[in-house]
Amino acid sequence: MVSYQSVRDEIKRAADIVALIGEHVQLKKAGRNYIGLCPFHAEKDPSFTVNPERQTFHCFGCKKGGDVFSFWMEYHSLTFPEALRDLAERYHVMISEGVSGHKEKEKADRRDALFEINEKAAAYYQGILNHPDKGRAARDYLTRRSVSRETVVEFRLGHATDEWDGLTQWLGRHHQDLKMAVEAGLIIGKKSGGHYDRFRGRIVFPIVDLRQRVVGFGGRVLDDALPKYLNTPETSLFRKGELLYGLNLSFRAIRDKGRAAIVEGYMDCLALRNHGLDEVVATLGTALTDRHVRKLKGYAREAIVIFDSDAAGKAAALKSLPVFLKEGLSARAVALPDGYDPDSFVNENGLDRFLGLLEDASPLFDFFLEQKLTQGDSDEEKVQVLKDIVPILSQVSHSPLCSLYVQRLSDKTNINEAVIWSEVQSYEKNPSRIAVEKDLKERLNVQKAGKRISDFQILSLVVYYPQAVPRLIDADCNLLLSDPVVVEIVNTIFEKYREGDFLPEELLETLDNPVACELLREILHRPSIYSDQDVEQAVAEFEEEAYQTKISASLASFRKGKGDAETLNQLLKLKRRKGRQDLDSKKASRREEYNG
Ligand code: CTP
Ligand code: MN
Repeated sequence: MVSYQSVRDEIKRAADIVALIGEHVQLKKAGRNYIGLCPFHAEKDPSFTVNPERQTFHCFGCKKGGDVFSFWMEYHSLTFPEALRDLAERYHVMISEGVSGHKEKEKADRRDALFEINEKAAAYYQGILNHPDKGRAARDYLTRRSVSRETVVEFRLGHATDEWDGLTQWLGRHHQDLKMAVEAGLIIGKKSGGHYDRFRGRIVFPIVDLRQRVVGFGGRVLDDALPKYLNTPETSLFRKGELLYGLNLSFRAIRDKGRAAIVEGYMDCLALRNHGLDEVVATLGTALTDRHVRKLKGYAREAIVIFDSDAAGKAAALKSLPVFLKEGLSARAVALPDGYDPDSFVNENGLDRFLGLLEDASPLFDFFLEQKLTQGDSDEEKVQVLKDIVPILSQVSHSPLCSLYVQRLSDKTNINEAVIWSEVQSYEKNPSRIAVEKDLKERLNVQKAGKRISDFQILSLVVYYPQAVPRLIDADCNLLLSDPVVVEIVNTIFEKYREGDFLPEELLETLDNPVACELLREILHRPSIYSDQDVEQAVAEFEEEAYQTKISASLASFRKGKGDAETLNQLLKLKRRKGRQDLDSKKASRREEYNG
């Protein structure tokens, strides 16, 4: 008999941990290791490493680590015997029964039995849908809803007739353990004894996990009866907060395209795939959770949420913002025209128009602001907006995104940036006391004056107006930056510019730091904050500020007895000369105005 240890060793020899983990986590080579975002805890900077030589992984953030088996167990929430079976199958290693002899074997067997009974039920429902008579009404319904035959097959759709015990009887006839069927949520015990089917008179949607096993079902009525949808109750296999409908079919497309479209309903997911949008998943009528997003970010660089245009849909989109920020996956949002959901939109207007909506999707944060600000702009409403948004900002307060968001918020509400920052800080110190102090209303109206030049302004200028770069280089404008990520981006741009081949879009590929990439992508996704007419003035302002900074620094070190007078004098001279130039050009333009 093959020993358990030898099966284990053989799998380890056959498996390549980088390839295996790489299917679920986006890995990048970094020296001898590969690194990526940890699938097991919330993080925005990669601390998850995979070592190909030792065939191990380790996360410096949450400390999880181990070999291929540990990964597979943790990622798919499996027992060891299950992982062993999966990987043996995958790497064609023969495994004889009783090999594992592990104490978790019982649990594994139990879950196996649940998977098996789900698989049987899925086949039963598929059989009914294909049955010439029994499936006719359901097939007609799907046709009316424009679901193609291929999509029916791909998603393994089925039908439950309106009999009370169609499945119960069938399982009995096939000698299945009804207790297991009860545990799987397929049938329900009657007080008087016997069982009846949970799903009756419905289209049945099997819900399949990433290991391609059926973990549960959703069912929709064929008419207006209520409840419209029914799902498997939470079982040990079926956890709504982790499952994304359709991910088992779409994860490769999501990885290839780098993006995931997230919709609310089964039918939305079917309709979009039916029309050829492959990178789509649906939440199962629940709010998007951190576990959903953590799964997705193993494949996607960006998520686009497309929620229904109704109030519930908008609320769901708003609620997802903190989750994305916390997990560090950039997200955009699509607002569908009133009365549409993705299914009705794509069926009426076709895929191209839907793709157009995806292209135009605005960053989720902007969407959030738009929604929050439609209520009005009285001081009371501004206070409310701050209350809603400050806790969210505090989640990203250490990222460069925050200054960008603060600026956005300030622009839209006319609240001074400094006031917003101070609210974020006081919230961070004491989250229970929801910021918004009693004098906030007065402070709301502090003039937006004395605004320091932000990292975001400089970044936006260099990205959209590269012709300004040489002057910014000459004036050492990178001195004005404070955030290390922005410094990294701007310095890279300066370098590229010196090399003479600067294209902002190509920069994304040059940057190694994913945080820097995300920020740059955000900037590239927004319109420039400067228009052509503003550029000259902005550059002049930056130059001025950079001179001031250098002079102050030079003065400070001079006072400490460290600076050298030569440099300081040169700076002051430069500044005087520049002042004169400015004056001259002002005079000149006034003369022009006068003469013209
Ligand atoms: N849902 C649910 N239980 C309900 C209603 C909805 O679980 N009683 C979930 C389902 O996953 C459903 C999703 O929430 O797909 C969205 O609901 P809704 O927008 O009402 O349904 P649609 O997907 O638009 O379904 P249809 O187009 O068939 O009406
Ligand atoms: Mn719908």
